[in-house]
Amino acid sequence: MNYSELAPAYIRAIAPYQPGKPISELERELGITGIVKLASNENPLGCSPLAVSAMHEAIKTIALYPDGNGFELKDALSRRYGVEHSSIVLGNGSNDMLELAARAFLTVGDKAVYSDHAFAVYPLATQAVGGIGVSVPAINFGHDLKAMLKAAIEHKAKLVFIANPNNPTGTFLNEADLLELMRALPPEILVVLDEAYNEYLPVDKRYDSVVWLREFPNLIISRTFSKAYGLAGLRVGYAFAHAQVADMMNRVRQPFNVNSVAQAAAVAALQDTEFVRQTFAMNLSGMKQIVDGLTALGLEYIPSFGNFVSFRIEDAMRIYRSLLQAGVIVRPIANYDMPDWLRVSIGLKTENEKFLSALQQTLGEK
Ligand SMILES: Cc1ncc(COP(=O)(O)O)c(C=O)c1O
Repeated sequence: MNYSELAPAYIRAIAPYQPGKPISELERELGITGIVKLASNENPLGCSPLAVSAMHEAIKTIALYPDGNGFELKDALSRRYGVEHSSIVLGNGSNDMLELAARAFLTVGDKAVYSDHAFAVYPLATQAVGGIGVSVPAINFGHDLKAMLKAAIEHKAKLVFIANPNNPTGTFLNEADLLELMRALPPEILVVLDEAYNEYLPVDKRYDSVVWLREFPNLIISRTFSKAYGLAGLRVGYAFAHAQVADMMNRVRQPFNVNSVAQAAAVAALQDTEFVRQTFAMNLSGMKQIVDGLTALGLEYIPSFGNFVSFRIEDAMRIYRSLLQAGVIVRPIANYDMPDWLRVSIGLKTENEKFLSALQQTLGEK
């Protein structure tokens, strides 16, 4: 008997998510240390010391279940962003937000619209509930909002996923274009605006999507503590939405989806604005270092608004493997329909140097 056939066809059709290669795995394979991982858009500065202290404190009560309602974290978010507790959903990473939106609002046969080259979890979350993904061709690797609007209306979509900035392309949508989409979209189509990399936006590109919630009850804003706050391993994210939308998402989430250590760390991390400022500054200089290096090597890249950049390279898989041999892990993105591209996350100055010199050497080996 083939047990996979017990699963519905739409589950069998799911292509598994391909995470970045863990350092420990490459260490085991090559028997080397000092590996640099620039493959998962993590924060090379680590996390706030305030979060570390909060985690130590929280461990003392680890025998107890977490607060299933996440009061303290909701309160901290509420005070920071001026959103009512009833409009906040907490998640096991912001990945959870994407899945909760799909679980709450899609059923078998319902359509969700997203862009080509958009974050891989949108199709995964859609397919996991039997929904049908409509992937809209991109313009210059970025979302084509007009085409997405048209597709959403034509297909009577229930959900539209928008990543701003998008991973893995790093492309950015400005405030005016997002607002134009929101105004044109029928109110019964929900929009998940995924702002996982929001804190990396340059000052002149920042926008306050939270105030849009008053005008657009069909808007779900998804954010994370995994990136600029450096808490990827803890898994904590959140969403802001109309109270009725948040209520539906909360009904399908696991009662204790955010663990107590994560809740405590996130509350503390939110207070440490200095850490986020340092992260931003380091990312800015690291991004320059990497794109200057790519340019010097004659490589094309997509200007990025996140903490990573994708560059075009012939024989991408061979280059990926050579970089692994040199102890540098980057991310192949063939699964994003970009087989000639690799994505590198911005690291510390020394890590970026190691990546660039390994890349230069690899190119010389051709
Ligand atoms: C665009 C985007 N959204 C959401 C996520 C999910 O991250 P997390 O679940 O760690 O919050 C990622 C992670 O890489 C991402 O790139």
